[in-house]
Amino acid sequence: MLKLVVLISGSGTNLQALLEALEASQATPNPIAARVVAIGADSPRANLAFADELGIPAFIVNPADYDSRASWGDALLEAVQQHQPDLTVLSGFMRLVPPRFVAALAPALLNTHPAYLPEFPGAHAVRDALAAGATQTGATIMIVDNGVDTGPIIDQVRILIEPDDHETTLHNRIKVAERKLLIDTVRGIADGTINLEEITA
Ligand code: GAR
Repeated sequence: MLKLVVLISGSGTNLQALLEALEASQATPNPIAARVVAIGADSPRANLAFADELGIPAFIVNPADYDSRASWGDALLEAVQQHQPDLTVLSGFMRLVPPRFVAALAPALLNTHPAYLPEFPGAHAVRDALAAGATQTGATIMIVDNGVDTGPIIDQVRILIEPDDHETTLHNRIKVAERKLLIDTVRGIADGTINLEEITA
């Protein structure tokens, strides 16, 4: 059973979709052999309510409580490692994780991104795609490295931008695709069809 720790900053809807998919798959002939063992956040404003409801341990490691990014990253790493994950997922975790965090966890450290990387990296990918007048964008799941959304890509999908799209409508459509990428990737890692070491080699 693949043990996951998932980190969020906001509403956590992609994580919720993953939790629902993991639960639903258990009643199918082909269950996903993965379990979320803890949910972490960088802010008390993140939506951890459903962790409580589901009885999943949750933790907050807030950079405001640390005097440097490196010491925050070390504390976050310790909180993650307490749960001994096989895979850590940044799912709408809106901070760059420091090099020691990456070195300790990658390649079993994934991020989802609401654009077709390398197009539109960074924290405002959906807004940036609209501002650029793009006719298409996408969703990507990748291994985290020390750059901003530069890690090895595991999978990605194109999403067309409609003429009347605004940030929310487009982001909601991207998230539907992101959720499928995340669920399929977790399934692939759990059943061995995706090998993260090979992707980084
Ligand atoms: C997702 O679209 C995720 O890709 C994005 O934040 C959203 C989180 O939504 N992450 C980034 O933009 C990271 N650069 P959620 O909290 O509802 O799951």
